[in-house]
Amino acid sequence: MLEFVILAAGKGSRMHSSLPKVLHPIAGKSLLGHVLDTVNTFSEDSAVNTHIVVGHGAQEVRESLSSDQYHFIEQTEQLGTGHAVQQALPFLNENSIAVILYGDVPLISHKTLETLIKKVDKNSLGLLTVDLENPKGYGRIVRDGNGHVLSIVEEKDANNEEKKITEANTGIMVVNTQHLQNWLPKLANNNAQSEYYLTDIIALAVQDGVSVATHQAANEWEVLGVNNRIQQAQLERIVQSNIANDLLEKGVTLSDPQRFDCRGDLSVGSDVSIDINCIFEGNVKLGDNVSIGANCILKNVSIGKNTVLLPNSIVEDSVVEEHCNIGPFARLRPGTRIANKGKIGNFVETKKAIIGEGSKVNHLSYVGDATLGCDVNVGAGTITCNYDGVNKHQTTIEDDVFVGSNSALVAPVTLGKNVTVAAGSVITKSVDDDKLVLTRTPQKTLNGWQRPRKK
Ligand code: UD1
Ligand code: CA
Repeated sequence: MLEFVILAAGKGSRMHSSLPKVLHPIAGKSLLGHVLDTVNTFSEDSAVNTHIVVGHGAQEVRESLSSDQYHFIEQTEQLGTGHAVQQALPFLNENSIAVILYGDVPLISHKTLETLIKKVDKNSLGLLTVDLENPKGYGRIVRDGNGHVLSIVEEKDANNEEKKITEANTGIMVVNTQHLQNWLPKLANNNAQSEYYLTDIIALAVQDGVSVATHQAANEWEVLGVNNRIQQAQLERIVQSNIANDLLEKGVTLSDPQRFDCRGDLSVGSDVSIDINCIFEGNVKLGDNVSIGANCILKNVSIGKNTVLLPNSIVEDSVVEEHCNIGPFARLRPGTRIANKGKIGNFVETKKAIIGEGSKVNHLSYVGDATLGCDVNVGAGTITCNYDGVNKHQTTIEDDVFVGSNSALVAPVTLGKNVTVAAGSVITKSVDDDKLVLTRTPQKTLNGWQRPRKK
């Protein structure tokens, strides 16, 4: 079985933040969340336990996961990576393989870990290394003349020769748990940082005749850590460009892959096009031939075939069906559902609004807590007055209703089929089918009126 141990107790002082480092996001998901997603892919085909070593902001980290799927271990004093793994040791099954991961190295892939795990048995441990142009700050892999790994030396303890080594320790290691039980208690902290280094177990392994099998990740970004906001921003761009490339390969048109942000799961049909500066959050589904204009934000949204979202529209927790036209500058708030061929124009806000097939709300309106039938036309400036200051009330508008401009529909109220509301009306009582309703004061026209004039 596999025992994953994720080290996440460090403070992350270089983030300059009150939020624990591992909770900072990349592509809308916490660093730790990324690591856990990868860990969880292993539970499909093997028995897996997941231990998270927490310290700084322990409470917040636990709460953010709100899951009993994970075992949390508190490391109250951060005495080093070796000390951190030692805290987990009593909880590991002795006939297991321990996979040590870092909460601040978020993009490690399943494939890389799988390859590393396969290299491990009773007589060898797996160490993930990376060749870096600039390995500053990393532990260096020291090898003998035959290329066998001898030890890892931390930057702060390295001599000038060792500092020239470009093969760096990623920190990710796979070890037989029995070996850990044997080696971890032997660690000492007589080093430059007075810490118990996990990396020192490499030399102990060599002493015990256990060989060190190294593997290099397929992509350098898999092993990059986040210690400050610059690295966080760099990883964000890497993830975004990976997602963008994936979409391009699937046949999506991205006007500019560098001005595209996905912070969740985006699924697309064929011939989808996405203009610049759009943000996709949560779960977003775009059907065939959907076109998304510039500067749109979509969060938990499903958009049907052939629908066009014009620029600057914001859509959240909503469903827009096929052949609709939304925006520019439309705001669809949670609970909106627009049936086929619906049209929502500029400066229209909807909330908990069910809009029937072919209905139009074209300009400057608020439609909230409302159900509209088919082929309804809502004139410019119409407001559903859904709130009496205490409670929300429902507006029902049946098929073929025409609401004249600048009307206020004071809920609860129902407009029957084919009702016509004259412009500028304030409707407070329900209206039966086929009626014309108006609440206007009659127009007066005065003869002989003269405007005042300047003397
Ligand atoms: C560590 C490695 C170094 C490697 C580098 C890769 C050691 C001694 N050094 O150095 O060889 O090149 O990672 O990024 O292992 N943590 C705890 N408890 C502690 C100390 C650390 O949970 O007491 C956690 C941190 O939260 C972090 C991880 O362990 O997630 C790594 O710790 P950090 O202090 O960043 O180690 P590095 O100096 O980067
Ligand atoms: Ca680090």
